Amino acid sequence: MKRNTYLVAGGAGFIGSNFILNSLIHEEGCTVINIDKLTYAGNLENLQSIKDDPRHIFIHGDICNIALVEELFETYNPSIIVNFAAETHVDRSIHEPLPFVKTNVSGMCNLMQVALEHWNKLPGKSKDTYRFINISTDEVYGSLDSGEAPLCEGSVYRPNSPYAASKAAADQFARAYYQTYQMPTITIHASNNFGPHQFPEKLIPLTIYNALHGKNIPIYGDGNQSRNWIYVTDCCEAIHAVIDKGKIGESYNIGDTNEITNIALVKKICEHLDTLCQHSDHRPHGDLITHVNDRPGHDRRYALNTEKLNHKIGWKPKGSFDDKLLKTIQWYLDNEKWLEHVISGEYHDWIEKQYRDEV
Ligand code: NAD
Ligand code: TYD
Repeated sequence: MKRNTYLVAGGAGFIGSNFILNSLIHEEGCTVINIDKLTYAGNLENLQSIKDDPRHIFIHGDICNIALVEELFETYNPSIIVNFAAETHVDRSIHEPLPFVKTNVSGMCNLMQVALEHWNKLPGKSKDTYRFINISTDEVYGSLDSGEAPLCEGSVYRPNSPYAASKAAADQFARAYYQTYQMPTITIHASNNFGPHQFPEKLIPLTIYNALHGKNIPIYGDGNQSRNWIYVTDCCEAIHAVIDKGKIGESYNIGDTNEITNIALVKKICEHLDTLCQHSDHRPHGDLITHVNDRPGHDRRYALNTEKLNHKIGWKPKGSFDDKLLKTIQWYLDNEKWLEHVISGEYHDWIEKQYRDEV
């Protein structure tokens, strides 16, 4: 049986927490060290089901704190490092870009530098199986027009938001550390994830939350921008497949085939909610859809070519988008307390300031 020690950064967030839960199933004998700063997006309630599991060790800390990161490597001797820690919301990056540079570029390099020094000291076999997984996004490739072919791993980087630019910068460092030091890094470009534990500033949970509370559902601009959605558990399984079979120094796109415009997606969620629960005044939830000012620099379309993942790694998602969307909506309906807890304080003030202007 494999007995990896994972160092997961950002494991209290959306994908990170799902990845940890998935890892404990994928590899029963593993240990997971989870360092998370618990920003507004980090939530230990996401890991409630493993709170007494000795295989998960939570460290409340910042990846920008080099002394702490060094101590973690010395204490736990991790074999697989997976970095999810990031500032992740495009709208926030437009509003205040510098925290994105700090965590997504500086913090990521900090983690990678300590990981490099640790790797250098490892003996033969441990050195070969060591991996540093840089979790990046499809947004580094920029926007496509409708009809353009989905983008491959070698496509040119054209980031358009401060968030995407910060992720693109981190990717270049991961590449450079492989080219210069032969450090075993792999970069993953994931498409838009959806599922349990996603912070309700992102489109799908925001739509569900607002619909349930009779609030307007903001659609930026005409709503005909499209995204390619992957269910978070599928994404986590694909990350494991890449850890197991991916080639060091390479990058892998992770996505599904669920391309849909924002407006069509939001209408679909509202229709599902109409059948699952009635709005208090019996109006359809779709009546809450409100077009608001567009996001500056809004990417029109993301689409990934995932042939490398499908053929070289041998991994493809199973099941239908509708089933997974329904499962996601049901999770938010069943976990209203989770939603109420995260929608408070600083986040509440932020969201109240945003997108009040109807157009
Ligand atoms: P998230 O915002 O839900 O979670 C981010 C986590 O990182 C939070 O728990 C937060 O507390 C933690 N964090 C932030 N700054 C930190 C710091 N300095 N030190 C330690 N921890 C810190 O994000 P997510 O949606 O789970 O995304 C995870 C990763 O996947 C990110 O790198 C993101 O760029 C990438 N990604 C996300 C998506 C998506 O659709 N969600 C798609 C592609 C790629
Ligand atoms: P989001 O979930 O923020 O992910 P990303 O910007 O990383 O793709 O947004 C998904 C799409 O939905 C994006 O085109 C912006 C749009 N959007 C809205 O129209 N209204 C909203 O309230 C939000 C949060 C997003």
